[in-house]
This record gives sequence, C-alpha cells and structure tokens, in this order.
Amino acid sequence: MATHSRIIGTGGYLPEKILTNADLEKLVDTSDEWIRDRTGIEQRHIAAEDEHTVDLAEQASRRAMSAAGVNPADIDLIVVATTTSDQVFPSTACLLQSRLDIHGCAAFDIQAVCTGFVYALSVADKFVQTGSAKCALVVGAETFSRIIDWTDRNTCVLFGDGAGAVVLKADQSPGILSTHLHADGDYAKLLHVPSGVSNNYPAVQEGRAFVEMQGSEVFKMAVKKLGSIVDETLQANGLERGDIDWLVPHQANVRIITATAKKLRMSMDRVVMTVAKHGNTSAASIPLALDSAVRSGSIKTGDKMLLEGFGGGFTWGSALVQY
Ligand code: COA
Repeated sequence: MATHSRIIGTGGYLPEKILTNADLEKLVDTSDEWIRDRTGIEQRHIAAEDEHTVDLAEQASRRAMSAAGVNPADIDLIVVATTTSDQVFPSTACLLQSRLDIHGCAAFDIQAVCTGFVYALSVADKFVQTGSAKCALVVGAETFSRIIDWTDRNTCVLFGDGAGAVVLKADQSPGILSTHLHADGDYAKLLHVPSGVSNNYPAVQEGRAFVEMQGSEVFKMAVKKLGSIVDETLQANGLERGDIDWLVPHQANVRIITATAKKLRMSMDRVVMTVAKHGNTSAASIPLALDSAVRSGSIKTGDKMLLEGFGGGFTWGSALVQY
C-alpha cells in the first residue's frame, strides 16, 4: 500500500508586541480606514529586538509537537520556510534542530517567500511518500519586520512577524492529497528586496535592503494565479468546487482572499481568515491560519481543505489536504 503523509499536529506563535493601524498613523501618512478598506488588516505582531526567526519557529514547533504527541527523537526531517533567516548560515532549520534537541536528521531551509510553507509541505510530503522520512517537522517562520522600510507606506502597513508549524507523519491513508508548485522569475522586480549577500552593492549603499513592491501589479497577478491554481488542484483530484470544506489561504489581503473564495464559490464562513489580526506574515501565514482554525475547533478530522499561496518570485502553489 502506498505511503502518504498526514498532518497530526499544528502550532503557531505570534510575538507579544502588537502594532495597530493607529500606531502606523504616527509613522507614515496613512489611516486606519485606508488600511482596513484596501487590505482588511487591523493589526500585526512585531518581534522584540532580541527575538529572531528561530525563536518564533521554536515556539510554534514545540506547540505542534505537543499537539501531535511526538518527542524530539521521533522527528526525522526538519524543513523551515523562511525569507528572513537569522544568519547567512547555518540554516534556520539547523538552528531550530539544536534548540529542539533533535540530532542527526536532515534539516534545511526553503525560500519561496509567501509560498514558502506550501513549498516546504510539498517537499516534506515527497520525503514521506518515498520512505525517506516518517515524521517531519514543517515550519513557516518570519521576522518580516526586519526587511520593511518603516517610512514606506506602500509596504509597511502590510506585513507582520510570526511562525506556524505542522508535524507530518507517514500513514497508509492521506493526508496530503496533492501539491502544486509554480514560479516565474520574470516577475522578480514587482516584489523584491534588491540587496542580498552576493549582490549587496550598490543596493545596500542606496539603502535598498527592504521590500519594494508594485502593489497593484502584484494584486492582479495574485488573483489570476490563485484562480488558476484552484482549477488545477480541483482537476488533479477529480473534485468539484463544492467538495472542499475549507479554504486556508495565504493571508496577504482580504480582497485577494475574497476573489479566490468567489472562484471556488465558497461562502466566507468556510474561509479561514487571520489577516485582520496577523497582517501578512509571509511563509508563516498559512500554518498560522491553519493552527488557529484547528485550535478553535473549526477544522475537524476528515475535513478537506485547500491551502494556497502566492508570493515574491513570483511563486505560487497549493496543497489539497484531508485533515
Ligand atoms: N495609506 C494611504 N494611502 C496609501 C497607502 C497607505 N498605506 N499605500 C498606498 N497608498 C496610496 C497610493 O500612494 C496611491 O495613491 P495615488 O493614487 O495618489 O498614487 C493610492 O493609495 C492607491 O494605490 P493603489 O496601489 O492603487 O491601491 P490598491 O487598491 O492597489 O491597494 C495594496 C494597495 C498594496 C493594498 C494592494 O495593491 C495590494 O494588496 N497588493 C498586493 C500586495 C501583496 O499582497 N503583497 C504581498 C504578496 S504575497
């Protein structure tokens, strides 16, 4: 019988500090009304100065492992999706591995910005399906506030910090039904941080170490690509729109989420929505949304859910999951 992977536990963590729209009104020329109308965001969490991506990842992972009832010794693969790693190297996954007292198993990071968690889930699922892993810790963790220009109203109102995690276990029945990953690097400049490690001059000299975004272009592409991935996922599984119990979307903008829900002809009470309280936490947003819906008792064992994300690259992807 084929081996599948199942999500057996979820966890999330948000830093203590909350930054409200009213707080942002003091930083840039914006208003609570504009932010709510255009994005649906009311507040976001911001990591403390001495709090790093691995700290957030550790808390979310501990909660996911506790919910799953697994010990450090059970974990045989760690995949962390992040754009904001603590160090150039080692990877955040290796730092996390040490924090959790896990030793010897494969641990690596994945970089697909806001689609990162879907990429990480897909890769971990394939490790489990091929028998290379039996119990994987899959994390999305970000301190996006560190790559935000807090004087740029086009971007600073959108993002927040956080981490979400799941434990994936080998099982005879699915689990993860299918995953679908895409990217098109031709769109890199519409949403990017121009500076990096290898290419840090002149970008850093020019102060371009922060997120730069052509908002309305990103918006249009996100709606288009998320619409097409809904079709692709349904078709690959021989499903109709009404067969999905929950939409667990990347939490970037309530208007993008609504457009995808409309495409699925799904009523909004079947859409997990955390964007108002979390903002866009990039790779952390989907596992955080999933964790909140599982812990509130909304998503139940056996429910079929569509996870979908879109982000810098551009990257986009989905996972159809039976919880
Ligand atoms: N407060 C007040 N006004 C703002 C503002 C802010 N925080 N940010 C931008 N504006 C202004 C713009 O300067 C522009 O003014 P202008 O018409 O005088 O030039 C005006 O609002 C409208 O800007 P526009 O870009 O047309 O608005 P929009 O309806 O597209 O909404 C976004 C802007 C950013 C909310 C929207 O484009 C979006 O969500 N894009 C996708 C972003 C995203 O999800 N990125 C991450 C993907 S993972």
